Amino acid sequence: MRVFIAGATGAVGRRLVPLALRAGHQVTGMTRSEDKAGVLRAAGAVAVVADALDRAAVVAAVAKAAPEVVVHQLTALSSFTNLRWFDSELAATNLLRTQGTTNLVAAARAAGARRFVAQSFTGWPYARTGGPVKTEEDELDPDPPAKLRTTLDAIAYLERAVLAADGLEGVVLRYGWFYGPGTSLGAGGKYLELIRRRRFPIIGDGTGVWSFIHIDDVASATLSAIERGAAGVYNIVDDEPAPVAEWLPFLASAIGAPPPRHIPAWLGRTLIGEHGLAIMNEARGAANAKAKHELGWRPRYASWREGFRKGLAD
Ligand SMILES: NC(=O)c1ccc[n+]([C@@H]2O[C@H](COP(=O)([O-])OP(=O)(O)OC[C@H]3O[C@@H](n4cnc5c(N)ncnc54)[C@H](OP(=O)(O)O)[C@@H]3O)[C@@H](O)[C@H]2O)c1
Repeated sequence: MRVFIAGATGAVGRRLVPLALRAGHQVTGMTRSEDKAGVLRAAGAVAVVADALDRAAVVAAVAKAAPEVVVHQLTALSSFTNLRWFDSELAATNLLRTQGTTNLVAAARAAGARRFVAQSFTGWPYARTGGPVKTEEDELDPDPPAKLRTTLDAIAYLERAVLAADGLEGVVLRYGWFYGPGTSLGAGGKYLELIRRRRFPIIGDGTGVWSFIHIDDVASATLSAIERGAAGVYNIVDDEPAPVAEWLPFLASAIGAPPPRHIPAWLGRTLIGEHGLAIMNEARGAANAKAKHELGWRPRYASWREGFRKGLAD
């Protein structure tokens, strides 16, 4: 198939492009940078240089590629450093989720694409009530902490725009927290370094449930969603949602770091804000049964336990 990947040079794109090429697809990758276009070409893809916020450029780029499937992996998270400044750190990503999505959906429709596969997130958006693990049927948080509201609205906008796009099979992939090569929880990644230096503490009781996904499993699930499965929403996570108080000490031990410090909630609130506290203590995990059943997909790392031990580096 002809596949157009916007965000072909990011954490997902770098693993997805070679996988899609090996599966025999013709891949066009989009980037803003001539240098990275060269890297895409060297990998065997067609490269196109365009800014996702420039509608005319995106429409022209997608039209030229004439893809059957368009994949939206646009984020601007490489400079993300501090949970405390969540709103401003996420502003560029949220623009890509709103305006960027609108542009790319319009471009896909104009080019006659059949299917549109987009990156969403399952890390904290589910409602912080009810059981610890959520399915795609469960509602997103109707009352998020104030500093998460704009980002949750942008995620919901992206999902609606993709699912409602006229004439396109819209597929929304709610990825769990990434780890592995090229991510901030991979060898040399900034969060792994914080954990190594005991600067990633358990704040409060650490009762928030996180669902992880190895970056190669992100790529394989995305390839499955490019190739098959009904339109709709899929959680793309491993088999073992786990509370922060469980996975964080395990990860520290797996990389030979000392155990994480504990910080009481009242103090943590001043460090990472009410929203950070909610992510650490109230987040819900996600179930992957639908993706397994409908996409015929299995994660190579069914549990972060094995993934943290064996899958952080290439
Ligand atoms: N679920 C999760 O846990 C999750 C999800 C996403 C990201 N992350 C993490 O966030 C960090 C950064 O992510 P990342 O490595 O994927 O980098 P990123 O800086 O978020 O960029 C992702 C992709 O979006 C493209 N892009 C951004 N703005 C664009 C624009 N205006 N027009 C066209 N393309 C645009 C980039 O292309 P160019 O720069 O080449 O133009 C790149 O291909 C990583 O540590 C990653 O693991 C985590």
